Order: sequence, then structure tokens, then C-alpha cells
Amino acid sequence: MDQVRLGKPAKFHDFDRPGKMPESQSPMTVPRFAQAKQEGRKLTMLTAYDYTFARILDEAGVDSILVGDSLAMVMQGYDNTLPVTVDEIIYHTKMVRRGVKHALIIADLPFPINHLGVHKTIEMAGRILKETGCQAVKLEGGAEQADVIQGLVSAGIPVMGHVGLRPQNVHVMGGYRVQRDSEILLEDATASQNAGAFGIVLEGIPASIAANLTKTLRIPTIGIGAGADCDGQVLVMHDMLGLTTGRVPKFVKSFVNLRQMVDQAVKQYCQDVRTMTFPAVEHTYQE
Ligand code: KIV
Repeated sequence: MDQVRLGKPAKFHDFDRPGKMPESQSPMTVPRFAQAKQEGRKLTMLTAYDYTFARILDEAGVDSILVGDSLAMVMQGYDNTLPVTVDEIIYHTKMVRRGVKHALIIADLPFPINHLGVHKTIEMAGRILKETGCQAVKLEGGAEQADVIQGLVSAGIPVMGHVGLRPQNVHVMGGYRVQRDSEILLEDATASQNAGAFGIVLEGIPASIAANLTKTLRIPTIGIGAGADCDGQVLVMHDMLGLTTGRVPKFVKSFVNLRQMVDQAVKQYCQDVRTMTFPAVEHTYQE
């Protein structure tokens, strides 16, 4: 009789073995992440929103996974990041958590949570940490968010800042615009650091300004559209896998054209079913 495969997942990482785990395999923590800057080690971060991709990214060795509010656009099909809710961020972060053994998991605070006051933000960010098992939150904002960052950190919630182009400000900016005011950028980044942020995303700013900020700040800078001199880089996973439809920003590099590969696979599947080439004998149970 044929053995029926129940689709049980293969054994996860072999972390149960006795003996100490090498540092490179041990789970990434907030202090280790922050320490990378002093060690001159570049940090890698990608977004993910579900178990399967989070597991692939984690096993491939990415340092950190961001459950970004970009999920509103790439998972939910909205035009911008504003519609995603705290409950939806929690739902997706829980899935990511189940797929990850090593990477630091950071969840985005969705619009407009961090503008509702320190206590409300602690309540929402606290829910995210308690219910999902992620280790930190990210919030968009600069000097005007310093009290919120400070409140979160003193409540035990590590915070990654996000300055420069802030997608949650899309309507104020009238689109997505590169931010070039070096004084404001320095003020925002320094205020985030001094309020206790352990790292900071620099989005959509000229490379020379990002390089200066990276030299000036003690905390790691994670660039997206901010040049090569940041302490690390982040990309939206769908962009770097070539899954995004339509125009992608200048700063995106597609490392593979997955959209084309999936398109070809689906066309082949349809053709094989229609011509009865699939399922073949090897995919068929016998009496
Ligand atoms: O939501 C997101 O994916 C982000 C990154 C682009 C930094 O904030």
C-alpha cells in the first residue's frame, strides 16, 4: 500500500541537541543587533508577513524580520500603508513568529497609534509584544515622537525609529518624496536615539546625509533608499523577490524574478491538467 503523506512539516532547526549553540546560530537579540555597529558587522533586514516566507528568510540567515505596515500594500492590496490595523499587524506577526528561530522580529506600529499619546501607544505596543512574541516595535517619527519612544522603552518595549521619508505621511507630502533637509534629519535621528531607540530606519534620503548620520549616531542605521554607507539595509521582501507589480522605486533591486517564475509554473500546471499530463503515474495512488 502507498504511504499517505500527511504534509507534516519537516523537523525544524536542530536546536534540541545538547551543547552550546554557536553565536552565529543563537537567536538575535536587541542588544546583539545594536552591538553589530561597534563590531562593524553590516545588518540585514527584510519584511515578511507569514510563516512560510519568514521561515525561508530566517533559515537563509537574515538578521531581522520586519512585519512592516507595508503589508497593507503588498498583502492587502491598498494604495498606501494607512489602512492596516493593530489587529492585522498582530495576526501577521504571530504567523511570522512561528517560522522564526533566529532573526529579530520587529513589528510596525500602524498609523496613527504613536500619535495617540504615550499611554495609548504603550497599551498597543504592549499588546503586540504580548500577543505575538516579537521583540521590538518600529515607529515612524522624529523629534516629536521622542516622549513616545522614551515611554515605550521605559515600559520594556524596544523601539526602532524611522526617519526621513515616512510613508504614513503620504498625504502630507502629496506622494512619496525624498527628504533632503539635513538639519531636520539630524534632529529627528538624534532625538530618536537619545529617547532610547536601539536602531533607526533611514528611508528615502540622499546617501551623503545618511552617511553623515551613520557616522554621528551610536545606534545602527538601517537604510532603504539611503545609500550603501548605512549600518544595514532593509527591503520589502516582495520587491527584492521581483513579486511586485507596476513601478518599483529606484532604490529597489530585484534579486530574482519570482513573479515570472510563478507565472510560468502556473501556466505549465494549467496546460498539464488540460492535456492530462498531470497527474502522472508517480502522482497517483494504486489499489
Ligand atoms: O513597512 C515597511 O515595510 C517599512 C520598511 C520599508 C522600512 O517600514
